[in-house]
Amino acid sequence: MPSKSADDFDEPLMSGESDSTEDLEMSPGGELRTTHFPRRRGILKFQGRVPWMSLIPWTLFLGLSLWVLHQYQKRGPNNPIFPQMLYSPAQDALEYEVRKFRLGLDGDTTEFQGQPSPELDKNWSNLYDMGINLIPRGMAAKLPNKTIIFPHDEQRRYLVELDVFHQLHCLNMIRQALHPEYYKPHTPGPHPGEEDELLGHDHVDHCVDAIRQSLMCNADISVLTWRWNRKQKKNMEMGTILHTCRRFDKIQDWARKHAVYHNMDNEHREMNDPLDPDTWVDGFSG
Ligand SMILES: *[C@@H]1O[C@H](CO)[C@@H](O)[C@H](O)[C@H]1NC(C)=O
Ligand SMILES: *[C@@H]1O[C@H](CO)[C@@H](O)[C@H](O)[C@H]1NC(C)=O
Repeated sequence: MPSKSADDFDEPLMSGESDSTEDLEMSPGGELRTTHFPRRRGILKFQGRVPWMSLIPWTLFLGLSLWVLHQYQKRGPNNPIFPQMLYSPAQDALEYEVRKFRLGLDGDTTEFQGQPSPELDKNWSNLYDMGINLIPRGMAAKLPNKTIIFPHDEQRRYLVELDVFHQLHCLNMIRQALHPEYYKPHTPGPHPGEEDELLGHDHVDHCVDAIRQSLMCNADISVLTWRWNRKQKKNMEMGTILHTCRRFDKIQDWARKHAVYHNMDNEHREMNDPLDPDTWVDGFSG
């Protein structure tokens, strides 16, 4: 095996710093040995030549930097550059803020806690009653999963719901299931005769698992802390700490802007949806 000499190395493209080049080689005996090469001065060797090849990585780097800067300016300082791996029609509504969580105990309770009442129900439903939304075809075309055209919609908009509103609805159903004496007779299901369906075991079980998946999916890594409690003379975990949060009011604003409040005709299918070949009839082809 021929031993490497200094002449076997290419010119260093950008660096003149290679005072000496060390090279580890296997000797014929199998031990590692170190070879020293003399000091080289790459920069000097470029004099009189145009090292245009060396510009390519720097041009790419500059281009990438400008692109990242452009994306950053477009989204504003509160948004990350890549908000989600998958497209969401509400992605431009994302903004972040720091929020202190409430304890939900010992007098620090919120307007979503306590004994059932019409007012409490209103507070809950206000969180998500703008949850069913219509979006134009341009947005629908970018969805990772297809959806349908809203039945009878003249503008042929597409029907979506942001999962956070479904999850809040689900959490509300779990809350109501804790008070069967209050809610059972009052809660209408989606169809006549299905009065108890939303608070039935299967639906509440579905809701618990939807929320489990969402918690794991969003994996809040804000930290809880411990403090010494003088009165109780013990270390206690603290709930009223700071979190990085998506601004929920902005997401609600987006949903309100796209909300549809009238009932849906579930028995009607819109045909000839350009985004869904399964609906194409009479020679329609997008
Ligand atoms: C509902 O929300 C309002 C306004 O935030 C609050 O004043 C009220 O106490 C809440 N109702 C209940 C039952 O918590
Ligand atoms: C959504 O898309 C994924 C990936 O193509 C697919 O596995 C899943 O079944 C789709 N869900 C629905 C309801 O179409």
